[in-house]
Amino acid sequence: RELSAKQQSVREEERTRVAREIHDELGAVLTAIKFDLSWTAESIGKKAEFAEVFSGLDSAIRSIKQICTSLRPSILDDLGLLAAIEWQAGAFSGRTGIVCKLVHDSHAPEVFRSVSTDIFRIFQETLTNIARHAYATRVDIGFQVRKGKLILSVADNGVGIQSGANSKSLGILGMRERAKSIGGKLVVEPGKFGGTRVLLEIPLEGKKPRGASASSIP
Ligand SMILES: Nc1ncnc2c1ncn2[C@@H]1O[C@H](COP(=O)(O)OP(=O)(O)OP(=O)(O)O)[C@@H](O)[C@H]1O
Ligand SMILES: [Mg+2]
Repeated sequence: RELSAKQQSVREEERTRVAREIHDELGAVLTAIKFDLSWTAESIGKKAEFAEVFSGLDSAIRSIKQICTSLRPSILDDLGLLAAIEWQAGAFSGRTGIVCKLVHDSHAPEVFRSVSTDIFRIFQETLTNIARHAYATRVDIGFQVRKGKLILSVADNGVGIQSGANSKSLGILGMRERAKSIGGKLVVEPGKFGGTRVLLEIPLEGKKPRGASASSIP
């Protein structure tokens, strides 16, 4: 069992790395080409002639996004959301040296696969932000059901987030959009004892258990 957990972990890291590389490298290069070409076309007054090239570039950028989405974490399918969160927290701790404590209900709720991917991605971005910006030594994670809502809270003991810091960057914006797309709400706020707290709330009612037919996925 230990070996298969290890293999799982290696596979997961590899998928995450590939997805990130495709997204960051290829996505950025194509976007840069698009802007350069647009500038050139405009400066020689031939914008219309390039229309097809632009739509080709746009569809390439779109399919990169699709590929990255399809590289969804396999750990979610194999072990479920709670185990995936546990695994990710452990990997994060190992990589950064930041202590992670996870508190969860004894019975994790069953959630849609599509929903669990979004929750997991939000969680990953939250940890990435902590590693990049917080200078924290400890992270407290809560994964619980309260009043029919799934609550994922991630609190760090770092330097705290500046108000307005999150207005332009894409990370928190993307997290918000993901939360909204699954009917949830995301709050990023100063922690009670300093640091930053990210709170994700997803209403569970109407969410069919895993294995429900694909067509009923919202
Ligand atoms: N846990 C945190 N502690 C302190 N500051 C934070 C934390 N999380 C986010 N921030 C601040 O909020 C800003 C916005 O975060 P966001 O994820 O939107 O963008 P980013 O991480 O700078 O860039 P990216 O678009 O690559 O994610 C960060 O630049 C940082 O200043
Ligand atoms: Mg970020």
